[in-house]
Amino acid sequence: MASITPNWRFILAVVLVLQMWASQATARTLPNASMVERHEQWMVQYGRTYKNDAEKAKRYNIFKDNVEYIQSVNEAETRTYKLAINKFADLTNEEFQASRNGYKMRSLSKSSSKVSSFRYANVSAVPPSIDWTKKGAVTPVKDQGQCGCCWAFSAVAATEGINQLTTGNLVSLSEQELVDCDTSEDQGCNGGLMDNAFEFIISNNGLTTESNYPYEGVDGTCNSKKESSHAARITGYEDVPSNSESALLKAVANQPISVAIDASGSDFQFYSGGVFTGQCGTELDHGVTAVGYGVTSDGTKYWLVKNSWGTSWGENGYIRMQRDIDAAEGLCGIAMQASYPTA
Ligand SMILES: *[C@@H]1O[C@H](CO)[C@@H](O)[C@H](O)[C@H]1NC(C)=O
Ligand SMILES: *[C@@H]1O[C@H](CO)[C@@H](O)[C@H](O)[C@H]1NC(C)=O
Repeated sequence: MASITPNWRFILAVVLVLQMWASQATARTLPNASMVERHEQWMVQYGRTYKNDAEKAKRYNIFKDNVEYIQSVNEAETRTYKLAINKFADLTNEEFQASRNGYKMRSLSKSSSKVSSFRYANVSAVPPSIDWTKKGAVTPVKDQGQCGCCWAFSAVAATEGINQLTTGNLVSLSEQELVDCDTSEDQGCNGGLMDNAFEFIISNNGLTTESNYPYEGVDGTCNSKKESSHAARITGYEDVPSNSESALLKAVANQPISVAIDASGSDFQFYSGGVFTGQCGTELDHGVTAVGYGVTSDGTKYWLVKNSWGTSWGENGYIRMQRDIDAAEGLCGIAMQASYPTA
């Protein structure tokens, strides 16, 4: 470079300055650089790849909208809960609902035709709080992945609970067996009902373990050999009287309970902690498990609910949902179609 004359150095400098101007001008028309970086980091964190640049651009825009929505909710001072970027951050709310929620609301004819007894009707005293996870009746949080079989996870969690309470053993049971084998009314990854799952477990004389029939997250063919191996049995199931949080309280005070909720909102998608008081309807679309209840130090009553979206969602996979609200249905319809297996 020593051979470059002063003239050439000057021209080189001019060219460099022009290049800098040009690249700054381009940067102004590009998407927010820090948002692009956040999306890139998020992709690395969750191991996400896209099939082409068009898909990546589409996903970036959804990610950006979600980030801005989450920021706006978190900045609202009155909220008792927080949202966060999570593994669902590049999905629109519609896509999210389609891939995760699979509860088929019980039809009126089905619920009214069945006379259900409620063994906890006369329970008069319940503790001020209960947490079945601390009492050893709840297995670690599982992840349904992109399969709408929440109903299987909910039914299995309630069955694991009553099995632990009656036998003293906490055994993780198989959702995949329900997805593959309980096909007379339930539809695997396309949805189902916890009550149908209980009926299957009763007629099959039990359910096998998670380790014997591991979760695949896709519809498969029933393995009848594994289906005939039984790790836990139930003898019946009952519905909690509808639209009564006090009836639900009596039930949850005694065992983990399958509940159906409306989990369709964006706040549910990105819930990260606190007592959820978010807007939601009563179009039940998601099966989860009520595994306790309590009151926060500032007096907010909540249900403790186990979800099946992995431990990175919510409070290590759980959500605390506001309890005893003005509407009989409960928040997100939690008191509408609750049920439980009996030993
Ligand atoms: C870029 O995004 C960040 C994070 O959302 C935001 O704080 C900042 O204001 C944005 N900058 C511009 C120029 O839009
Ligand atoms: C509750 O009490 C009533 C009145 O004593 C009785 O008729 C009913 O059978 C009891 N229900 C249960 C589930 O024990």
